[in-house]
Amino acid sequence: MAAIADPRAWPYPRHIAHRGAGKLAPENTLAAFRHGAGFGYRMFEFDVKLSADGKPVLMHDATLDRTTSGKGRVDALTLGELAQLDAGSWHGPAWAGEPVPTLAAIARYTQANGFLVNIEIKPVPGTEVRTGAAVALDAAALWAGAAVPPLLSSFSEEALAAAASVAPDLPRALLLDKLPGDWLARLHRLGCVALDANFRELDEGVIAAAHAAGYRVLSYTVNDRAKAAQLLGWGLDGLITDAVDQIAPRL
Ligand code: G3P
Ligand code: MG
Repeated sequence: MAAIADPRAWPYPRHIAHRGAGKLAPENTLAAFRHGAGFGYRMFEFDVKLSADGKPVLMHDATLDRTTSGKGRVDALTLGELAQLDAGSWHGPAWAGEPVPTLAAIARYTQANGFLVNIEIKPVPGTEVRTGAAVALDAAALWAGAAVPPLLSSFSEEALAAAASVAPDLPRALLLDKLPGDWLARLHRLGCVALDANFRELDEGVIAAAHAAGYRVLSYTVNDRAKAAQLLGWGLDGLITDAVDQIAPRL
């Protein structure tokens, strides 16, 4: 991949709301997206895994216990069973009854409002290939014809490789909590367009090295305003934050 020729070609905004609206609303629900949008955010990161019947749904944890009225593994319930759960009450009574969204519901909401998405493929351990392929196929169909495609990301290289094999045209970012020595080679091998790293791993040199090799750089989860300003000053392309009420999005 060549060095970035036209920095304006990147279609995504620099500010991205984490799990919809960070900790201000029940994560990974449509209510959270609406809340984040109220602060001016127009791109949203969220986590996707598969139900027992292979349907992509929004959920961070491998189990239902923390963020829903259900218990046990997410992939033990069918979509119909997941639809019975309350994914809002854990956050407070104002959010009671909020459902577990499907990827399809998020596709409808975001496209109707001109919002962009970063779909984090977060497989239940042991389901990496199946989840990467199913989420990418669904995303390609749901965003077919969209002016800007969803940006896929994952910590799982297996999931990203599976996504690439079924939907090669959807852009991919590799999530890394620690930067291994061969991070550039990994991006290249997976045909990624971006590195998406823990902010603690980034400095001006890493961002410049990524840009020189033709890759964009995103970072999670940046909740401090001074740190956000520093990273953006270094040329960061995408800042994923919980602090949607404190970090004003600029386009
Ligand atoms: O996509 C970036 C970030 O969401 C990764 O960490 O655990 O919040 O999904 P996590
Ligand atoms: Mg995530």
